[in-house]
Amino acid sequence: MTERESRRILVTAALPYANGPVHIGHLAGAYLPADLYCRYQRLQGRDVAFICGSDEMGVAIMVRARTEGITPQELVDRYHPMIRDAFKGFGMSFDWYGRTTSPVHAETSRDFFRVLAAKGAFTTRTEQQLFDPAAGIFLADRFVKGTCPSCGNPDAYGDQCEKCGTSLSPLELVDPRSTLTDAKPELRESTHWYLPLGASQARLEEWIGTHPEWKSNVLGQVRSWLADGLRDRAITRDVPWGVPVPEDVAAAAGVDAAGKVIYVWFDAPIGYISATREWTAAHGAPDGWKDWWQSPDSRLFHFIGKDNIVFHCLMFPAMLMAHGDYVLPENVPANEFLNIEGRKLSTSRGWAVWLHEYLAEFEPDLLRYALATTLPETKDADFSWSDFQLRANSELADVLGNFVHRTLTFAGRFADGVVPPLVDPSDADRAVLDELATFPSRIGEAYEGFRFREGVFETMALARLGNKYFNDTEPWHTRKTDPQACANTIHVSLQLCASLAVLLEPVLPFTAAAIRRMLRLEGVATSAPADGEFADAVPSSATVAGGRIRWADAGAPLLAPGHAIGLAEVLFRKIEDEAIAAQLAKLQGPAAEAAPEPSLPYAPAKGHVTYDDFAKLDFRAGTVVAAEAMPKSKKLVKLRVDLGYEERQILAGVAEHFKPEDLVGKRVTVVANLAPRLMMGLESQGMLLMAENRDGSLHPVSSTGENGSVVR
Ligand code: 2FM
Ligand code: ZN
Repeated sequence: MTERESRRILVTAALPYANGPVHIGHLAGAYLPADLYCRYQRLQGRDVAFICGSDEMGVAIMVRARTEGITPQELVDRYHPMIRDAFKGFGMSFDWYGRTTSPVHAETSRDFFRVLAAKGAFTTRTEQQLFDPAAGIFLADRFVKGTCPSCGNPDAYGDQCEKCGTSLSPLELVDPRSTLTDAKPELRESTHWYLPLGASQARLEEWIGTHPEWKSNVLGQVRSWLADGLRDRAITRDVPWGVPVPEDVAAAAGVDAAGKVIYVWFDAPIGYISATREWTAAHGAPDGWKDWWQSPDSRLFHFIGKDNIVFHCLMFPAMLMAHGDYVLPENVPANEFLNIEGRKLSTSRGWAVWLHEYLAEFEPDLLRYALATTLPETKDADFSWSDFQLRANSELADVLGNFVHRTLTFAGRFADGVVPPLVDPSDADRAVLDELATFPSRIGEAYEGFRFREGVFETMALARLGNKYFNDTEPWHTRKTDPQACANTIHVSLQLCASLAVLLEPVLPFTAAAIRRMLRLEGVATSAPADGEFADAVPSSATVAGGRIRWADAGAPLLAPGHAIGLAEVLFRKIEDEAIAAQLAKLQGPAAEAAPEPSLPYAPAKGHVTYDDFAKLDFRAGTVVAAEAMPKSKKLVKLRVDLGYEERQILAGVAEHFKPEDLVGKRVTVVANLAPRLMMGLESQGMLLMAENRDGSLHPVSSTGENGSVVR
């Protein structure tokens, strides 16, 4: 082994926020490439630590907890196990999956903060901030609303007015009010710690300059941040959820630490360190983590999506440099974004494929393969269900599954299920074995260079080669004319299957295990941790710790003549059109279709009315019982609405949005005491309530109450 190969490989995958389940965008951005890399490196026999965990602090968690009506702790307790289990089902081979609410994480983050404070790496600033006296907390960003000083929108947020796009600070809002309690905030002074990134700019630039080999999408973003000039970043917050600022540091600065927490983007990357500490401690080596984080023998790689580049390439390295004891990342192979069916993935609009839902219906390897062949490595990429089906059926089933199946059934029927010896090989036999020898390095070079799509393509090329060889040598023919040639084809084809059972392991670990089981191939080196929390993510008939067969060995025959193989099993069942149609229908549900583009402005809020004004209106639940187009009108539809106590004729201006027949049977809410109005010669006796989305689409406000019931 060269000096470089003998060094430890520390791989981190971005800690997902525990505020929702994981979707395929996450997988394509960070997790699948990281897993491919780690499994490949372990098969090379290298010492790997693959570290991840849930990001459980920060405002994202607080906001989601409020939406779900639970505490932040309850929220993370709900999503952490869900995310962890979905990762397991997908075959992620983490050595440790931690969480940032752990005591070890609080201690590690606070110690890190202390060291940087002691080294003078921070500055502090005291400024006026908005405080909610009713909730007893300072109001950051989205916790405060008010009137926009630029456009007068009464619902501008503390960080931005969504109507005119102006970027704001809470103090610029006119008539601010708390979004938590609607209270009028007071001004109070607060002191915060800042990381003056500008002071590290020269060092960061010099260090980035030593990595011209980084991916161009990563370097492009980093250089543009550097060109803009790095600014101070506040690294503490006055919010009730987070890792508390160390009291001793606060006291030394003459600041009351009560209610002050460390900013989530300061503690989250330290989560990689705390998770590593937990992992080595669980293996009886409480200080073992230092071998991974503080030794020149360790190579650090961060796998992330492009939205995390600035934090992993500039902010965290600046923190590590300021601390002084840590290694810096050797590479940050960030991916771009994955779109779905040609549209930007959006969790709020339901335009996402959730991993736990996928796993309830399909095998993990199909998605691993479909995503691995579509990874957004250099630019945004697109996932489509039809492509998923095509890859599963035409590549996995027809190419890989077919080759393994025909080889094993042929060997079973015509070689008694025993590997025949290779005697007097033909040119074709030799040529294929010579080509096999090139595969481990071909695929390996692609993986080492973070070109995972290419690596997976090269792996499938081996199955393609196998099919071509099988066809060209026609063993069904030579069986009768030249039995030794037939036996040689079986020998060589079985060797290709055995090599596939090793080389497929990074991308298709479940399938590779199944092929090994069929071949009764034992002793393949481990590609996943054999113990720890994720050990049960390792497929049965797994690779083994200390196995003698490693990656490079897969270039040469692995099965000895005389070795008895098992029976052929079907590796992949075809995905039917109906299954794909069902997934598309799920994705294109009405909520997703009708939801507005988030960038469109909301309609400005209207001024207050008194309760008495409101009480004058008589809203009633009803059902549309008949609808017809109005002759000569592009806008109006003539409806009959059953209000229980009577039927009304209502002329609604919705013809551009609904076909009359689609309205029949709809539950609606009617403003029942609006004075009747003549429209195109007919009387309209009320009005339907409709929600108008920001894209202009209309949606009836429906009620489950009986017809005629009062809505108030
Ligand atoms: O963007 C995110 O989902 C963050 N939770 C990633 C954190 S990565 C690391 F720094 F922990
Ligand atoms: Zn505005």
